Amino acid sequence: MTTGAPDPAIAEILFDEETIARRIAELAGEIGTDYMERGYASDPEGRPPLLVCILRGALVFTADLARKIPMPVEYDLISVSSYRNRSAPGAVRLVRDLERPIAGRDVLIVEDIIDTGYTIEYLRRTLKARSPASLRVCTLIDKVPRREIPVEIDYAGFPLEKDAFVVGYGMDYAELYRNLPYIGALKPEYMR
Ligand code: IMP
Repeated sequence: MTTGAPDPAIAEILFDEETIARRIAELAGEIGTDYMERGYASDPEGRPPLLVCILRGALVFTADLARKIPMPVEYDLISVSSYRNRSAPGAVRLVRDLERPIAGRDVLIVEDIIDTGYTIEYLRRTLKARSPASLRVCTLIDKVPRREIPVEIDYAGFPLEKDAFVVGYGMDYAELYRNLPYIGALKPEYMR
């Protein structure tokens, strides 16, 4: 339940707190089943899956997801920045790396939004080169029609067909709106 009027910058609440919590519980259950019963965990040393949280947008999602996964998991943080211009479409740079090696680990990348696909593709490539035992991707929002390159997504919270810039629940516009408890579409006049 989302109480009170939405922030004035929000055109429409797309997913309220209750809807987000319900979907995250489902995703977490699916992840637990896959890693515990379906043999997705293949770390030869039997260490818990490692959630790789992509800062800063996936912080809130990772915190809630991790607490609903019904098995031990660890997490680490990584941060990337993307340049969006015509000369280098999809150029992504690592800003903050993981603290520990991931060789032999079962790694699950946790992302807030997959849009064009360039960021997740860069991360998948970068982390795969470090020889994890397995590498999967979980995103809260999948902007399906915006994809510019094909990407493999193992767990997606909400497909979003609508062409909206979304904020809240960790997601920002110019660092604002991350602490809204719901996910909303930002009014165009608040983007400049
Ligand atoms: P991609 O590389 O185009 O897939 O972009 C993914 C990243 O762009 C996400 O991790 C977000 O940080 C950012 N992004 C894309 N769409 C939105 C949005 O609607 N709201 C907030 N951030 C977004």
